[in-house]
Amino acid sequence: MEKFYTTTAIDYVNGAPHIGHAYEKILTNVIFRHFQKRTDDAYMLTGTDEHGIKIQKTSAQNGQTPKDFCDNNAQKFIDCWKLLDINYSQFIRTTDENHKKTVQKIFKKLVEKGDIYKHSYTGLYCAGCEAFLSEKDLDEEGCCPNHKKKPEIVSEENYFFKLTKYKEQIEKHIKQNPDFIIPSFRANEVLNQLENIEDISVSRAKTNVSWGIDVLDDPEQVIYVWIDALSNYITALGYDTENPSADFKKYWPADVHVIGKDILKFHSIYWLAILMALELPLPKHILAHGWITIDETKMSKSLGNVVSPSSVIESFNMDIPDALRYYMATSAPCGKDGNYSDEDFKEKVNAHLANSMGNLLNRTLSMLVKYFDGEIKEEFIVKSELFDEAKKTIAEVKHHFDYYEVQEASLKIVELVDKANKFVTDNAPWTLAKEEKMTECGKVLYIVLETMCTIASLIEPYCPNIARRMASQLKYDINTKYDDITFNNIKAGKLISKEEITPVFLRLDSELADKAKK
Ligand code: MSP
Repeated sequence: MEKFYTTTAIDYVNGAPHIGHAYEKILTNVIFRHFQKRTDDAYMLTGTDEHGIKIQKTSAQNGQTPKDFCDNNAQKFIDCWKLLDINYSQFIRTTDENHKKTVQKIFKKLVEKGDIYKHSYTGLYCAGCEAFLSEKDLDEEGCCPNHKKKPEIVSEENYFFKLTKYKEQIEKHIKQNPDFIIPSFRANEVLNQLENIEDISVSRAKTNVSWGIDVLDDPEQVIYVWIDALSNYITALGYDTENPSADFKKYWPADVHVIGKDILKFHSIYWLAILMALELPLPKHILAHGWITIDETKMSKSLGNVVSPSSVIESFNMDIPDALRYYMATSAPCGKDGNYSDEDFKEKVNAHLANSMGNLLNRTLSMLVKYFDGEIKEEFIVKSELFDEAKKTIAEVKHHFDYYEVQEASLKIVELVDKANKFVTDNAPWTLAKEEKMTECGKVLYIVLETMCTIASLIEPYCPNIARRMASQLKYDINTKYDDITFNNIKAGKLISKEEITPVFLRLDSELADKAKK
C-alpha cells in the first residue's frame, strides 16, 4: 500500500464538541492508526466548519465578532481531540487564509466553465442544514426531517451550481462501484435522493449572510457553506486550480471520507459533482457512520443529555483516554447507530481491557518473574499453534479494515485474547511449575508473551497508550508494521524485573464513577 488518506467531517463551531463528534473522530483515528501500520504515508485530516448564518447569529448573540467566536470554539475541538489522543496530520479551519483563497479560485473556475450561473430564486431554507430544501425533502408536517423545523421562505439572487448536469455520471459511479458507499445499504437511499435533485444554490446575498467567503468579482455575494466546507478535503492538501501541490498529487483521491449518515447526500452527490466539474479523481469510499444516542435517547440540548468527552474522562478519573476510545470505536457495527451509557461503558472496558487483556499480560509476566526471575531461556522459544491463530487474526483484522469495519475487527482481537487466555488455562503453567516441569512451563509463558506482541499491535489503533505500556513490558517495537510481525520478538535473556511490571489498565472504580457527577 503506497499511501492512505482519510478525513472526518469538519464540525460546526457553534458549540463545544460532544460524544457524537468524538465518535466520528475516534473512528477515523482508529482507521488512520491501523493504516499507519500498513503504509509509511498515512494522512488524517480533521477540522472545523466556521462560516454561515448560524455562526453569524450565535456570535452576535454572544456579543463577539464571528472570528473571535470561532477562534474560541475551534480551540475547544483542538483541545478535545488532544485529550482523546487523536493524532491527526492536519487540522483545517475554513477560516484559514489558504482555504479561503482556494475556495474562491474553485468557485471562479466553475463560473468560467459555465457550471455556476446566477439566478433569481425563491426557496425553502433550513438554517439547521444550512441548505435549501425541496418540498420532497420535508416530512409530513412540512418540517426538515433532521431539524424538525419549518424551513424559511427565502428569495434571493444567488449563484447556482449545475448539479443536474452530473446526475447520470453520479448514478453510474454509484451503481458501478458497489463499495463506494459504506455500508452498501445506504447506496439505494442516495440513488433515490438523486432522482429528485435540482441545481443547488452555492452563494448567498451578503445582505442576508455576511459571514462567508467573498465571491471574487462580485462583492454582493458570499460563497455558501457546502462548497466552502466540502472543498476542505482538497484545499488542506494544497490543491490549487493551476498548480496543485506535491501533497495533493500524493494523497488525493481520499481513500475514505468518514461522515455521519445525515450528511451522506452532500458527500455522495454534491461533492462528487463538484469534483467531476473540477475534473478531479473521486474519493474511493465514503463511510457513513450511524448516530450515537445516550442511554438509548437522542442527544439534545433541550433534554439536557449532551455528554462531553472530557466529562467522561474526568468523572471516571482516567489518566488515559484509551477506554473511551475503545468503547466508542466498538460501539456499533459498521454504519449502524451506537449508544453510550455509563454502566455499559464501565462494564465493557473493565471486562475487555482490564480483566481479559490486561490481566493476561500481568499474570504471565508475574509468573515469568516468579519462576524464572523474569528470564526467557533459549529452550522456551518454540513454535505454537497460537501463532497461527494470531497470524489468522492479523489477516482478518486487515480484511475488516479494508471495509472500515472497526467494531467487527475489534471482535477478532477479543477472540484472540480469549484464545490466549484459554491457552493459559488449558496448559496451567502453575501446575507445570509445581510438578517441576520448568521447560514446559517456560514454553507456555513464552508463547503467550509472543502472542501478546501481536495483540499489542492490533489493539494500538484503539488503545494507543495501553498498547505502548504492553509493548514496553514486552520490549516490543509498537511501530512494527503488520506485514513485519515475525513471531520472534521475544529473545532469550532477561525480559523483565518485578519492579517493571505494572498493570496496563486499571479497572474503572465503580464507587468513584458512581459518585462522580457529569
Ligand atoms: N459542518 C458539517 C460537515 C461538513 S463536512 C464537509 C456538519 N457539522 S456537524 O458539526 O453538524 O457534524 C459533524 C459530524 O458529526 C457529522 O458527520 C455528523 O454526522 C456527526 N455527528 C453529530 N452528532 C452526532 C451523533 N450524535 N452521533 C454521531 N455522529 C454525529 O455536519
